[in-house]
Amino acid sequence: MALLEVRSLSFGIGNRTILDDLDFQIDRQEIHALLGSNGTGKSTLAQLIMGCSGYQPGAGKIIFDNQLINELPIYERARLGITMAWQEPARFEGVGVWDYVSLSKSDAEPAACLDRVGLDPALYVGRLLDKTLSGGERKRIELASVLALRPRLAILDEPASGIDMLSTGEIAGVILSLKREGSSVLLITHREEIARIADRASYLCKGKIIDTGPPDEIAEQYKSRACKVCDGVICR
Ligand SMILES: Nc1ncnc2c1ncn2[C@@H]1O[C@H](COP(=O)(O)OP(=O)(O)O)[C@@H](O)[C@H]1O
Ligand SMILES: [Mg+2]
Repeated sequence: MALLEVRSLSFGIGNRTILDDLDFQIDRQEIHALLGSNGTGKSTLAQLIMGCSGYQPGAGKIIFDNQLINELPIYERARLGITMAWQEPARFEGVGVWDYVSLSKSDAEPAACLDRVGLDPALYVGRLLDKTLSGGERKRIELASVLALRPRLAILDEPASGIDMLSTGEIAGVILSLKREGSSVLLITHREEIARIADRASYLCKGKIIDTGPPDEIAEQYKSRACKVCDGVICR
């Protein structure tokens, strides 16, 4: 039984169709990678699942744990256990790093969560979320806050962007640990080496999932731009 089921989902902005009759599923404790060229609608799908404001489906169903959640506001979806690390980390400018990581009020220690994403907790006591943090640090802190939440579904939008290649393995390790602790993960990424840790992968083009399968196969398809839908016009 799927934890998340997206059925015949359509979404447009103005008169432009972004997602078109899209079907997609994530199983319990599955890491599901989502691949697709820039601008194909990956972040849009993520925001529709999270329920961000302005992202109401034009048609279709989003079902989480057998419950239709289309109409639920973001905070109720969060309460159900859905959380998201944004591609561009949300700016809670001026909030303390430790406060941010412990906002979830879970039992998880902020120090332990920072440590798991490769940040030395001692160096972040007293630091704020502001311009003095690098982009990579922001992404790691975002990931630490996801760990602290112990979510049922973690949506990670390009978690490795802005993080150097050498640390890719470390980020992959954090994502695998989320799964071990019982989370399902929607892993949006351009990085093949990250996608390969997934249990399954899907390929998005022209607003539809055109293929789902083993990550190696889907990554290969994506790399060779072997898109049956756009004939390489978009996936080039
Ligand atoms: N608020 C918006 N207004 C107009 N167009 C948007 C808006 N948000 C996204 N888009 C467009 O929707 C398409 C899909 O965007 P996005 O989901 O961010 O793509 P991806 O994450 O796959 O790179 C892009 O062409 C983008 O320009
Ligand atoms: Mg995006």
